[in-house]
Amino acid sequence: MEHKVLETRALTMRFGGLTAVDHLDLYVTEGEAVGLIGPNGAGKTTAFNMISGAYKPTEGSVIFQGEDITRLSAPEVCKKGIGRTFQVVRPFGALTVLENVMVGGFVHTGKTAEARSIAEGVLRLVGMDHIANRKAKDLTLPQRKRLEIAKALATGPKLLLLDEVLAGLNPTEIEEAVGLIRKINATGISVLMIEHVLQATMAICSRIYVLDYGKLIAAGTPQEVTSNPDVIKAYLGDDYE
Ligand SMILES: Nc1ncnc2c1ncn2[C@@H]1O[C@H](COP(=O)(O)OP(=O)(O)O)[C@@H](O)[C@H]1O
Ligand SMILES: [Mg+2]
Repeated sequence: MEHKVLETRALTMRFGGLTAVDHLDLYVTEGEAVGLIGPNGAGKTTAFNMISGAYKPTEGSVIFQGEDITRLSAPEVCKKGIGRTFQVVRPFGALTVLENVMVGGFVHTGKTAEARSIAEGVLRLVGMDHIANRKAKDLTLPQRKRLEIAKALATGPKLLLLDEVLAGLNPTEIEEAVGLIRKINATGISVLMIEHVLQATMAICSRIYVLDYGKLIAAGTPQEVTSNPDVIKAYLGDDYE
């Protein structure tokens, strides 16, 4: 049987009277790329916040490589090997691309030369080495999205959480980003991605989970999920008009 790198068990987040994530069970196996989709407000980012240690769940647990990491802080989770991007990109604008990525490199080393070498390797992988010395604030949106991925990669993740990294990109840019995510996944890094661009999600992911109002309403292969009547009603309805 394949080995699970990540598993959430009955993961739940309540904000006052609102249950943003309601007993979510999902898993990602070693080397797998998995999608998490659903309408705005479904609870996707909240789930990422709990998995990455930013939020403490109201109930349930997060298991990473067989270890319960539910109560760890965000830096501790990162050190364990879960890297994430943020839906709202937030680079250090005054720092260069290289310096931004070095911040990630410092997760595993205190030595500047080592952090720099990690960052340089990541920038080559994501194809940003030619703009390593550009200030982050001068980047285009697709470049900033890519920088987010690079920052997360520099932390040396075993599992990468991507939160809408394709949002706002044009079709050509999406195609390039899809190629990059597949390339990253092919290096052995498992991927869990939140995405609205369905075609791209289907091109990358072997399985997809669908959240609606905090609850899982479907899970399966892209074909299974997109032919599920509940999913079409909750999520694809508008697209089918
Ligand atoms: N820190 C918070 N405090 C209160 N409510 C929140 C907080 N974060 C998210 N929510 C609410 O939880 C629900 C799910 O939000 P979110 O996880 O961002 O959805 P998605 O990423 O699927 O669009 C929304 O109703 C949102 O307003
Ligand atoms: Mg979100």
